Amino acid sequence: MEKIVIEGQVPLRGKVRCEGAKNAALPIMAATLLCEEPCILSGVPPLKDVETMSRVLCSIGLDVRIEDGTISVRQRGPLGLEPPYEAVRAMRASFLVLGPLLCRLGAARIPLPGGCDIGQRPVDLHLKGLQAMGASIELKGGYVEAKARRLSGATIYLDFPSVGATENLMMAASQAFGETIIENAAQEPEVVDLANFLNTIGANVRGAGTSRIRITGRRGFGGGEYTIIPDRLEAATYLLAGIATGGSIRVENVIPEHLTAFLAKIQEAGAEVSTGLRYVAASMEGRANPVTVKTLPYPGFPTDLQAPIMSFLATARGTSIIIESVFERRFAHVEELNRMGAKIRAEGSHAVIEGVEELTGASVEASDLRAGAALVLAGLQARGRTEVSGVSHIKRGYYQLVEKLKRVGARIEVRCEENA
Ligand code: UD1
Repeated sequence: MEKIVIEGQVPLRGKVRCEGAKNAALPIMAATLLCEEPCILSGVPPLKDVETMSRVLCSIGLDVRIEDGTISVRQRGPLGLEPPYEAVRAMRASFLVLGPLLCRLGAARIPLPGGCDIGQRPVDLHLKGLQAMGASIELKGGYVEAKARRLSGATIYLDFPSVGATENLMMAASQAFGETIIENAAQEPEVVDLANFLNTIGANVRGAGTSRIRITGRRGFGGGEYTIIPDRLEAATYLLAGIATGGSIRVENVIPEHLTAFLAKIQEAGAEVSTGLRYVAASMEGRANPVTVKTLPYPGFPTDLQAPIMSFLATARGTSIIIESVFERRFAHVEELNRMGAKIRAEGSHAVIEGVEELTGASVEASDLRAGAALVLAGLQARGRTEVSGVSHIKRGYYQLVEKLKRVGARIEVRCEENA
């Protein structure tokens, strides 16, 4: 078992280049199921989740080749309607093949998904939307069995702007009969990226990036070439690493507008921020000002940055408040941060972070992807040695995290348990 070992309190300085966005790549890979011709996707991050999605696609009839950040996908033979249980349980985003399979085959049988341990993550909004488009849905033995001879356009109101439901429904509607309107749609940049990809292969999707998306169904999609947007969450993680250590980091290959809420918050906390075409730089001296952060759907503050910013605020000059409004149970990192000397109380959806002068190194365990990133950030700030286990979670979303941090001066390495 691997551990990330960090000797903290070194100010990080330099440039980091971001990969393409995992959360854009996964739905776009699922959408290649809609194509009748080959597709080439560039800027795909070489991550475990991407491998899992390609395993899912291969298992249902696509040929997927991954080489140097580029993925080529083509249909190998007839499509299958049931991806393997292990892959779907391992990664919630595998559930995104439901919409496209229903379009192409008129049926799909998908295991109910698993994923990170961050609270209840139902799929009711995906299913209600598909039912509104005429699909019959049955839940049998842990599987979703969906059937529809041809989906028809409908007006769908989402009770919550779920990213995954918006994406699944957008894909399903792209080949439905007539027009679909998704109201209270998710507005995340990754949703816009999927819409742009769908339009590249022949769909008609308008309004992505607003709360109302209109899709006019069409059949017979071709293929195409597409480049995935940069990863805003990876970018924010490195910016936090820079400012939390009293250093200065410039992140390249990033779209600054995707980080508006995050950059506003770190500026409020005292960071100097500058942005330009495809880069963001941030630096900071001394301890952060305490701030209040509330996670919200985009363009609000991203829930995926809640744990990372909590590490940064753990040493602020005063008491910060974090309100988690997207997921019900996403404070597993609090206990681990407290083991490093933080003073954080979490109750329900609130966390109260009483800033301490410094964190101290400890052995801690990552329980999910972003909690893992938060613990690495805490280790970079802490006095002494921190050992983070649960590295496989971190690898789901960060490509070469340790190598990239090393290049900007961090004393960090990966060790196998035997040598640790
Ligand atoms: C995506 C991101 C994830 C991010 C999340 C919120 C990917 C691969 N993952 O996950 O990193 O943390 O958006 O920004 O893009 N919900 C329901 N019913 C549903 C669907 C969702 O109640 O049918 C609830 C969830 O329980 C959760 C909230 O809606 O409380 C947000 O979930 P959603 O936006 O769907 O997240 P994902 O698409 O799974």
